[in-house]
Amino acid sequence: MPTKTSVYIATSLDGFIARPDGSLDWLDGSGDNETNDHPETQSSGEDYGFKDFMDRIDSMILGRTTFQQVLKFGEWPYTGKHVIVPSSTLSPEEVPERLQPEVKIANGEPSELLSLLDIEGYRHAWIDGGKTIQRFLRAGLIDEITVSRIPVLIGAGIPLFGELVRDVDLEHAQTSCFDSGLVQSRYRVVRSSEEH
Ligand SMILES: NC(=O)c1ccc[n+]([C@@H]2O[C@H](COP(=O)([O-])OP(=O)(O)OC[C@H]3O[C@@H](n4cnc5c(N)ncnc54)[C@H](OP(=O)(O)O)[C@@H]3O)[C@@H](O)[C@H]2O)c1
Repeated sequence: MPTKTSVYIATSLDGFIARPDGSLDWLDGSGDNETNDHPETQSSGEDYGFKDFMDRIDSMILGRTTFQQVLKFGEWPYTGKHVIVPSSTLSPEEVPERLQPEVKIANGEPSELLSLLDIEGYRHAWIDGGKTIQRFLRAGLIDEITVSRIPVLIGAGIPLFGELVRDVDLEHAQTSCFDSGLVQSRYRVVRSSEEH
């Protein structure tokens, strides 16, 4: 079985994953969540299935911009996961020494990045970061998408989805509505026969 790939991400209702400057203050609507890029640490204690998701993955491909933002949070939230940071600009020495055993920089096509995980026996990767997700979608290399829609319109920002070379058919798996107004939907990507 090839390494499975999942997206697990929060968007505004108008489809943005961050404001134009990368800020995430809108994630919990109270402006006190700037140090986390996922809604799982909201003050209500509800984690929206994030722990279950983390238990299912063993690796990540974490976009360079998102990686650098997560580093500013201080505490590394992905301990125990093997992380590949795709980048054409970052050098391995720029990864903090304490993270170097688990975090590798790699420059390559999505299929090459995924092969690195596959060869090492990783079975389920979280693909994170806007441009990174878009590249994997264009390459036909996403298996599952979970989007948590936050009930807010922010008008402008970094979009989750972008241009495609062909349509991506999705099969709806589940939608859950939470008291906070967050609506989470999970989809399976329908792979065409020419994709792996
Ligand atoms: N709402 C959420 O749940 C959520 C989740 C994740 C991220 N975010 C936010 O999204 C923003 C970042 O997203 P983004 O779209 O700007 O960027 P991103 O995907 O995090 O990073 C993009 C960068 O990754 C590198 N890259 C990606 N694929 C590559 C490949 N195949 N080969 C080589 N390099 C590759 C490139 O780095 P180089 O330029 O070094 O080549 C590219 O510029 C941040 O503000 C973050 O907080 C939000």
